[in-house]
Amino acid sequence: MGKGLANVKPETHIVTALAAGESETLLFAARSRLSNLIVEFVVTYDDLLAKANVSRYSASIAIRTVEQAWKKILNPYLPGKPDPNLEQFHQLFVGREDVLSFIMDNLVGSAAERIVVLYGHRRTGKTWTLLRLRDRLPDIYVPVYIDMQGTTGVSGAPALLQNFADRILNGVRERCKLNDQTLRSIRVPNLDDYEKNYPYHFESRFLSDVQSALGRRKLLWLIDEFQGLEDMVSREQLEPTFMEFLRHLMQFGKNMAFVFAGTREVTGKYWSVFFNIAVNRKIGVLSDSDAARLIIDPVKRSGVKHDRFAVPLIKQLTGNHPYYIQLLCDKVVSQLNAHRQMLVNAQIIEDAVNELVIPGTSNVKFYWDEVMDERERAVAGAMQEILRRRQSTDVKTIWSEFNGINPRITAQDVTASLKTLADKDLLEKNRAALDTYKFRIGLVERYIGAHVPYADTQERIGKSW
Ligand SMILES: Nc1ncnc2c1ncn2[C@@H]1O[C@H](COP(=O)(O)OP(=O)(O)OP(=O)(O)O)[C@@H](O)[C@H]1O
Ligand SMILES: [Mg+2]
Repeated sequence: MGKGLANVKPETHIVTALAAGESETLLFAARSRLSNLIVEFVVTYDDLLAKANVSRYSASIAIRTVEQAWKKILNPYLPGKPDPNLEQFHQLFVGREDVLSFIMDNLVGSAAERIVVLYGHRRTGKTWTLLRLRDRLPDIYVPVYIDMQGTTGVSGAPALLQNFADRILNGVRERCKLNDQTLRSIRVPNLDDYEKNYPYHFESRFLSDVQSALGRRKLLWLIDEFQGLEDMVSREQLEPTFMEFLRHLMQFGKNMAFVFAGTREVTGKYWSVFFNIAVNRKIGVLSDSDAARLIIDPVKRSGVKHDRFAVPLIKQLTGNHPYYIQLLCDKVVSQLNAHRQMLVNAQIIEDAVNELVIPGTSNVKFYWDEVMDERERAVAGAMQEILRRRQSTDVKTIWSEFNGINPRITAQDVTASLKTLADKDLLEKNRAALDTYKFRIGLVERYIGAHVPYADTQERIGKSW
């Protein structure tokens, strides 16, 4: 600690292991009355040759006052909003070029159009990608967005098809400038018609009329939360034969293409019928450069600047997860306004993290609640505790912690959950240390540290295997 400094927090940081070329941004908060000071750092590290090597270095620090005049920053971020207005959406949407071209290749670029399934864990951006697709398609496609979560109150094929027909008509109206006469030529069945014979009324009359009205253009069904259909079948809100009807439409329906999005790959019981005709594509976290764009660009216009540690720190805290970036950046903007400041620095980010993590509200918690299962919670909870004790988070250490509580658990059990957590982008393998994992989404690690007592984790370890 240097002269004139007080309350350095935290006094020590632990970095598990770093591979060549890898870096980690560490944050120390300090108070000083002086405008120039010298700070001394003591670094203790292990390498291949020796343990506990010590190196010291000093930095001369000149404290600057923030020069730029503050003016209220309008918050552009929209964490968790599935369907924002178009202007905001275009301002915020980043990346996914690879996914969009994958879809285009499988629709436009292949001899026979394939059915594309986008799958990914909660809030990774499936819906936003589907919505983005609407602006990227050649005119020949008429996109119709159908959210199966929005139809949970609906029961039975007739009501569901009536719903679909409604969305299709809206999509057609929005996208194609058809004259009234052509629109009136589309025979819209009523519930009675569907109840009498839905394949005939929906396919042979309604869809056939829609297609005549569209001419060369074709309907593109964008079905979001498709597993909702399967859930309707298991809750007996929908007869299983409906799935066969849907497959029939997908295979033989004229001038139609389909993109599905949901949290599962197409492998489930009812979906096996689509297995041969669908291609799956996973949606994960954003690339480094897209994450940086989402952090910087939306606020650049308002004159906000980032110091050189800000962007790496936000990436570390969010693991490039688009929802967490928006969630944190939203709080960063409120902190900037609260501090009347235009520069994003470590202090602002730390205050934003506290604003998010301390109340532990559902938006930060969703990962813990909705993405992870009990075993994964046990492993992540133990990892957080082991890191808190400043031990290494390698498989052996984690397993011996588990074994002390529940001897039934094998090292393979632990590895299996570590792998699924890596697949869910919460953890990543440490490239510098064998069989060692680290948190990739710092916010979730902080959430666990603040809200999950180790006693709960111990109980989970005892019960979950
Ligand atoms: N490409 C993107 N660019 C910028 N922000 C994004 C992007 N994708 C997702 N987001 C942010 O993440 C949030 C969640 O995205 P979205 O609703 O599309 O996820 P989802 O995978 O459909 O989630 P769920 O599984 O809950 O339906 C969005 O509200 C938005 O804030
Ligand atoms: Mg969605």
